Amino acid sequence: MSPLLEADSLSVVFGGVPAVTDVSLRIESGESIALVGGSGAGKSTVARAIAGLVPATSGSIAFDGVDLVAAPRRTSRTVRRGMHLIFQDPYASLPPGMRVGDIVAEPMVIHRIGDKTSRRDAVLDALGSVRLTPAADFAGRYPHELSGGQRQRVAFARALVTHPRLLLADEPTSGLDASLRVEIVDLMSELARTQDLAVLHITHDLALAARSCDTLMVMQDGRVVETGSSTEVLTNPSHQYTAALVSAATGTH
Ligand SMILES: Nc1ncnc2c1ncn2[C@@H]1O[C@H](COP(=O)(O)OP(=O)(O)OP(=O)(O)O)[C@@H](O)[C@H]1O
Ligand SMILES: [Mg+2]
Repeated sequence: MSPLLEADSLSVVFGGVPAVTDVSLRIESGESIALVGGSGAGKSTVARAIAGLVPATSGSIAFDGVDLVAAPRRTSRTVRRGMHLIFQDPYASLPPGMRVGDIVAEPMVIHRIGDKTSRRDAVLDALGSVRLTPAADFAGRYPHELSGGQRQRVAFARALVTHPRLLLADEPTSGLDASLRVEIVDLMSELARTQDLAVLHITHDLALAARSCDTLMVMQDGRVVETGSSTEVLTNPSHQYTAALVSAATGTH
């Protein structure tokens, strides 16, 4: 069987400047993988290329065995309904003038899924699954009437409402304080387990990465420099850059 997602030698070049070079990764159905690395390493660009928001300059991206780079646009768009990208900045990504219920329903409207009644039920279900209860109360609120952690839960509810098989979570905890970060990451792991969801979790934070995923990939300057089990990478990093990240995270020198 082919993996859920398989990127092979993916490269993205912006105006002659390489942002991502030769990145290969595979994620099996239901598997969670963390992509870590410093600012500018190319992590978001990998996620955006997978989601089709930036074009791959070369290489292939297959989802469910369909080559998204080679497929006609209409096909790749349909196949990509099986994935959802949570953006790096949850504050900017929730439209301020829309009520939570409409924000969460929007992916169903865009993809023309269901009718008014079934959408409303799906919204309440999704809000319940991220524990924004009473769901009907939260559905009627505006983003500014929520805390940062609640806003990020709305982003997850919105991501899950169409039951994607792959969640691309780009720094889903940036802007939250430490205890909330753990809470959100644990919620994401729980949703992955209970909803058979595969996750690509992008983060700066090695400890959070290891908490949420069994496999870690480390990027530096657009390339993957290390891949391994989280325990292995944290206890015995083979690349100098990873070792530096690990000692920065654990405070050892
Ligand atoms: N649309 C774009 N046009 C031009 N250059 C871009 C574009 N998007 C990203 N880049 C460049 O590509 C490189 C990788 O950026 P990317 O956003 O993928 O890094 P990142 O690892 O997500 O960083 P951070 O941790 O800060 O979010 C950077 O040098 C960035 O300036
Ligand atoms: Mg980024």
